[in-house]
Amino acid sequence: MQIKTPYYEINKKELDNNYNNMVNALDKYWNNYIIGYSYKTNSLPWIIKYFNNKGCFSEVVSNDEYELGIMMKVEKNRFIYNGPIKTKESFIETAKNGCYINIDATRELQWATELKGDYKLGIRVNFDIEKMCPNQSQCGTEGGRFGFCYENGEFGKALEYLKKNNIKISGLHLHTSSKTRSLDIYKAIANMAVEIKRKFNLELNYIDIGGGFYGGLINKPQFSEYIKSVADILNKEMSPKTTTLIVEPGMALIGSPISYISSVIDIKDTTYNRFVITDGTRTNIDPLMRKSEYFHSYDYVDKNRKIIKKQVICGYTCMENDRIYVENDGTELKVGDKIIYEKVGAYTMCLTPLFIKYFPDVYVLDNDKHIKVRKEWTAEQYIQNSI
Ligand SMILES: Cc1ncc(COP(=O)(O)O)c(C=O)c1O
Repeated sequence: MQIKTPYYEINKKELDNNYNNMVNALDKYWNNYIIGYSYKTNSLPWIIKYFNNKGCFSEVVSNDEYELGIMMKVEKNRFIYNGPIKTKESFIETAKNGCYINIDATRELQWATELKGDYKLGIRVNFDIEKMCPNQSQCGTEGGRFGFCYENGEFGKALEYLKKNNIKISGLHLHTSSKTRSLDIYKAIANMAVEIKRKFNLELNYIDIGGGFYGGLINKPQFSEYIKSVADILNKEMSPKTTTLIVEPGMALIGSPISYISSVIDIKDTTYNRFVITDGTRTNIDPLMRKSEYFHSYDYVDKNRKIIKKQVICGYTCMENDRIYVENDGTELKVGDKIIYEKVGAYTMCLTPLFIKYFPDVYVLDNDKHIKVRKEWTAEQYIQNSI
């Protein structure tokens, strides 16, 4: 079948593999666990349903994401609610429904005091990961902005406030975004959990180590290594009998199975460059415009090719910087060739702007069959809420 480009393709087999590897690692090293799929990483409805059907929880960070989950028929007690933009109403509702809620800021502490009874409330810990893993954290010496700071006593004060109001804390949330996604980061997270549990003498029903793992890449840490590293440390102070390990993977599950397929539509020579114009765009695979290289491959329309010194591969938008990458001393590209960008499933579809063209088709490749799971948006969807 000739499929109209551009489109995203989800490779179901690879997705299954990533998921199974994660489950096997958890089964082996900490057999009391919850996988909370991170909606923000890619909230395509098909993907949400896929993980819900597998038995994952839904990790959401806004009431919009929560409502999306409800529309996708996620059971009302199977959410993990994080982030700074919760609404009071959804905070109370999800708590009463038995969801896991990780308190991020002061106003949520106040909301928590309005709850009477036992809930699955945790606190997001803001800690100095840069000190523990120099040059590896995302924010370096500027520090992260989420949760309550352990080192300056804010975390302790939050605990004290809840205790005074008879609110029990059942978990810690320690998600930390890093540049390296290394095992060191997860060891630091586990060590911090142990330190806090000891220092405040907490009884913890869950430790949520968040997401941020690699997945589906052979030369990077594997799930089994991540989970073993964490378990070895947590085991000093708790056990799977007493404590549930929560992970919130996004990238590790959905990054590698998704490709983006575009076609060459024109070749243009100028004084300075040969531009290869495609019907794809950088905004679909690198919406933050930070990448300089991409996993990619070609499907050529014929074999008869020269080597070209420099080709600049461009997207369809009218922005000059929609230059996707430069191919030096590469095979000549011609109109009709396909360029396939691999491993582009994380923070792409959900961050793509509605700029010049709207969202492209999405297919699932399952046993050599392509099944369309999202139709491209047209002006009709674009205007749907306009008054
Ligand atoms: C709280 C939380 N959990 C999970 C994730 C998912 O991270 P990743 O997609 O890198 O696995 C993020 C990403 O920023 C996050 O902020």
